[in-house]
Amino acid sequence: MDTQTQIELTRQFVEQFLEGESSGHDYWHIHRVWQMAKKIVSEEKIPCDLFVVEMAALLHDIADQKLHHGDEEKGRILVVQWLDKINVSSENSHHIMEIIQTLSFKGSNVRTDMETIEGKIVQDADRLDAIGAIGIARAFAYGGSRGRPLYDPKIKPQKHDNYEQYKSSYGPTVNHFYEKLLLLKDRMNTETAKKIAIHRHKFMEKYLSEFYGQWDGKK
Ligand code: ADP
Ligand code: NI
Repeated sequence: MDTQTQIELTRQFVEQFLEGESSGHDYWHIHRVWQMAKKIVSEEKIPCDLFVVEMAALLHDIADQKLHHGDEEKGRILVVQWLDKINVSSENSHHIMEIIQTLSFKGSNVRTDMETIEGKIVQDADRLDAIGAIGIARAFAYGGSRGRPLYDPKIKPQKHDNYEQYKSSYGPTVNHFYEKLLLLKDRMNTETAKKIAIHRHKFMEKYLSEFYGQWDGKK
């Protein structure tokens, strides 16, 4: 099986798996991360393994505990079995698994440094989709899926020191901007992502100022 076929089969597998998902992890999130990862590869001009980048981008959320009722191990096994089924070499399979397990944001005070350039690129692409116009839409969609209020001036944002704290945070969605979204600009790995992040960050700041302006009927 050639790599293009492996990528297309994986794309189809992910599309089917995520059908109907409504907490911000739908297939179109994966599609955007995949396209953005390819764009970063082409703009960075750093030697890297495009196959690993594309596969990790496509599979990065399949193992997320949120999609397996908190069971990360179940998600990991599913991805390993898939890679084995389509004959991905064990070296590439290990690399892809290493990327998708370290990738996600685990709290404002928790570092998640990627080991390889392929990992850095996929992490940037995933983080870029959490900010800007689409990031705002995803945050409110996620908050809605958990029954959270848009905003509550009485509840202050939290700094999370570990993944457990971050996962169990239950604040209003506007707090998520301070707990994660506005921190991402300074955590991008590649120059390409940094530039895109600056633009998306400014848009979120403008959005928040409009939001507060409307809160007390001032605007
Ligand atoms: P990623 O796909 O970047 O790993 P997550 O799985 O942490 O992100 O979250 C998926 C989407 O939901 C992201 O856009 C993220 O910002 C948003 N999200 C996660 N936690 C919250 C929260 N507590 N409130 C609002 N949005 C959230
Ligand atoms: Ni993601």
